[in-house]
Amino acid sequence: RGEFVHFLADPAAYGDNALEHFVDGVLVVRDGHVAELGPAAAVLTKLPAGTPLTDYRGKLILPGFIDTHIHYAQTDIIASHGEQLLTWLEKYTFPAEARFADPAHAAEVAAFFCDELLKNGTTTALAFATVHPASVDALFTAAQRRRMRLIAGKVLMDRHCPDFLRDTAARGAAESKALIERWHGRDRLLYALTPRFAPTSTPEQMRLAGRLFAEHPGVYLQSHVAENRAEADWVARLYPEARSYLGVYDRFGQLGARAVFAHCLWLDDADRRRIADTGTAISFCPTANLFLGSGLFDLGRARALGIRVGLGTDIGAGTSFSMLQTLSEAYKVLQLSGQTLSAASAFHLATLGGAHSLYLDGRIGNFLPGKEADFVVLDPRATPLLARRSAGCTTLGERLFVLMMLGDDRAVAATHVLGEVTWQRPE
Ligand code: GUN
Ligand code: FE
Repeated sequence: RGEFVHFLADPAAYGDNALEHFVDGVLVVRDGHVAELGPAAAVLTKLPAGTPLTDYRGKLILPGFIDTHIHYAQTDIIASHGEQLLTWLEKYTFPAEARFADPAHAAEVAAFFCDELLKNGTTTALAFATVHPASVDALFTAAQRRRMRLIAGKVLMDRHCPDFLRDTAARGAAESKALIERWHGRDRLLYALTPRFAPTSTPEQMRLAGRLFAEHPGVYLQSHVAENRAEADWVARLYPEARSYLGVYDRFGQLGARAVFAHCLWLDDADRRRIADTGTAISFCPTANLFLGSGLFDLGRARALGIRVGLGTDIGAGTSFSMLQTLSEAYKVLQLSGQTLSAASAFHLATLGGAHSLYLDGRIGNFLPGKEADFVVLDPRATPLLARRSAGCTTLGERLFVLMMLGDDRAVAATHVLGEVTWQRPE
């Protein structure tokens, strides 16, 4: 029981009708799934005597957050000073990822990473592991123990990287195939083919990744595109025949439903149309784009073309595990380009919008009956400043906006996965 907010549609298209709000609501969970959400007065009378009830009155309950782009192996390089993308990869990222050759290190980081997601209210993520297949095993094992929804994959990278992180086209494909067989569809886990980005895969590796994507319906594909200008220039030199950077992925059959590309900053409208037409999704990663000085994502243009967009923290280029902090930076990115982001659009992006971008809106993203009961309990009085500022709000929109601008992991009072408490803030 508490105050509930969730989305039935995109507020950008449906306005206030997109959102459902119960000031005093009850969410009924049965077998880990939503049975019903409604006003407390109506629902409580129907419940059989003795039904256990958790009282979260005074808190705001939303569907669990969905992080559509994150690297678990970069947990330990968040906040590494001074570089832009390509030098940041060389100086910080590759050395950090090399350590995942050690399964004990991978297991330790995977456990910390999953706990950090849950403590921030994130119950579903689409994540990169490293080139090592055992790094994927470690991550899926940690997520499975916590019953999270996790989509992840082994990085494919067979050139332009240190020897110790390099696979080959054939080995990368064989290892990906074995991982799909081992993990895809097991409990709440799904596999994502993961060519790191066009510069670090040979055309042969790209071809095989596209083929595996076509051969395994339901499997995802994740990569990066058009993040940084030096990166885009490099791709133009590597693939002179491609119409654009995105065109490289297109040529190898890597666009389509369940393909998710992080960043998409330096695209033209022909690229955007192709993304829209193929049902490809974009992961908007504002903290990473600001941190690496990459550029400003044009959410308005993506929306106008009907592109599926989710939100990503992109740890470790991103600077926070908190989707609240990520929304705060998204708002600022849009301000810099003369656009805006309403609180409703922001929380939609972090919940149902993310689910839609991952083609998982039939299972997660809101509280419709039958959905998996993942939710985050937010505390508008988590800190003295939040409490003071929240007290001055009159509308729900104002209260949500204050939460996303000032909130972080401290504002998460509890996180539930499949109905059960998985994280509870110490009192
Ligand atoms: N492009 C290729 N690899 C990476 C990565 O690890 N992080 C980010 N932000 N961009 C990338
Ligand atoms: Fe990334």
